[in-house]
Amino acid sequence: MVDLLLGLQWGDEGKGKIVDVLTKNYDIIARFQGGPNAGHTLEFDGIKHVLHTIPSGIFHENAINVVGNGVVIDPVVFKRELDNLEQFDIDIKLRLLISRKAHLILPTHRLLDAASEASKGKAKIGSTLKGIGPTYMDKTGRNGLRVGDLEFKDWKKKYRALADKHEKMIGHYAADIIYDLEELEDDFHEGVKALKQLNFIDSEQYIFDAMASGKKILAEGAQGSLLDIDFGSYPYVTSSNTTAAGACTGLGVAPGKIGSVLGIFKAYTTRVGSGPFPTELFDEDGKTMGKIGNEFGATTGRPRRCGWLDLVALKYAVQINGVTELMMMKADVLSGFDTIKVCTAYKYQGKEIQHLPYNIENENITPIYTEMKGWAKNLTKLTQAKELPPALNDYIGFLEKELDVPIKIVSVGPDRTQTIHR
Ligand code: GDP
Ligand code: IMO
Ligand code: MG
Repeated sequence: MVDLLLGLQWGDEGKGKIVDVLTKNYDIIARFQGGPNAGHTLEFDGIKHVLHTIPSGIFHENAINVVGNGVVIDPVVFKRELDNLEQFDIDIKLRLLISRKAHLILPTHRLLDAASEASKGKAKIGSTLKGIGPTYMDKTGRNGLRVGDLEFKDWKKKYRALADKHEKMIGHYAADIIYDLEELEDDFHEGVKALKQLNFIDSEQYIFDAMASGKKILAEGAQGSLLDIDFGSYPYVTSSNTTAAGACTGLGVAPGKIGSVLGIFKAYTTRVGSGPFPTELFDEDGKTMGKIGNEFGATTGRPRRCGWLDLVALKYAVQINGVTELMMMKADVLSGFDTIKVCTAYKYQGKEIQHLPYNIENENITPIYTEMKGWAKNLTKLTQAKELPPALNDYIGFLEKELDVPIKIVSVGPDRTQTIHR
């Protein structure tokens, strides 16, 4: 069986931390979609690590980490990640395997991303500019270059043809993009060299064999359900299926082989980049969340927009993914608020609704809040569920009842140890 761990909001829920916490229970950790737009943070022994492409189980000796076919890899970012890991004693060749079917992000994909965003003006997506959209476009357009191509002599010819085509496309955008392609390509080739030091595999076969021999697999999602290309707040989304179905296509796992679906959410909501966000706060409460929660993007450093928990959107994500267990992150950040608000319905076209409508643009929706009592207790030193303050237990109980799924982990700080199991 393959268990899934998925973000239920707009990303940055704390997936990296929880995958690291759970890796001791698994033999394989596999990323199934996204690319270096992701920034997964884990902290232990006083050191903070940020991973972009490499799965978050990499620091554990018991597990093999797989970058699946659904992931897009930028060799330049990938090499930087490998370089950062060098100081730690990790047998990377043994512990990290790459799918031959994963697509490569070319330097010109990044340029196309920049040109597309610049030409959109105010309507820009707020992309991380890592080349994600253009790379998935080439994948579905059947033009992409894949990791497996690097094992054949003619890959540079394929590369050139695609990069030349991209250069022409860049010229069509109404934006001036200044670049030195030779320099970018030098970095790309260095990255490819580093990537080629690793073992490339037919990952779907590897996963079939692992399942047949009873190995336990955890699929690590990137981004969040509301950034899903089909079910997210389109067009302000990423270019992959971030939801449970994405793990089937991104690893080659049959639907019947999916075990637990672990859904992870923050006790409030954040979003980085553009797009609708019904419960966004522009007041002191929002600022406090951002400050105490240290809400800055792990990939781009941009401040994250903050707001109260949106239960309408969370219910939707629980349904789309078939979540069987929930994990609530950053509960510590809400300590000190006199009142905690939860959005339990939307006012939409004059009516109160409890589902996510087609258009969740802020001007169409007014969130309706249920208020709950806050708690003052500092949670960051707590280790056991029985120590949680009553008002937090009420908040948890309310969410469990509304979502009809148990909350099994409450996270009270960024460190591996600041994790309470219920
Ligand atoms: P991911 O993309 O889902 O892996 O999440 P990110 O790493 O982008 O963002 C989560 C941020 O919150 C990181 O800086 C984590 O170190 C931090 N974090 C995770 N869990 C907690 C928590 O329970 N409390 C606090 N205060 N920070 C947390
Ligand atoms: P993790 O895995 C938060 C957002 C971007 C932008 C939109 C499209 O760390 O949770 P893209 O670069 O994919 O074209 O950007 O999606 N975005 C994320 N936001 N966490 C992420 O990943 C994200 N990856 C992309 O900010 O709004
Ligand atoms: Mg992140």
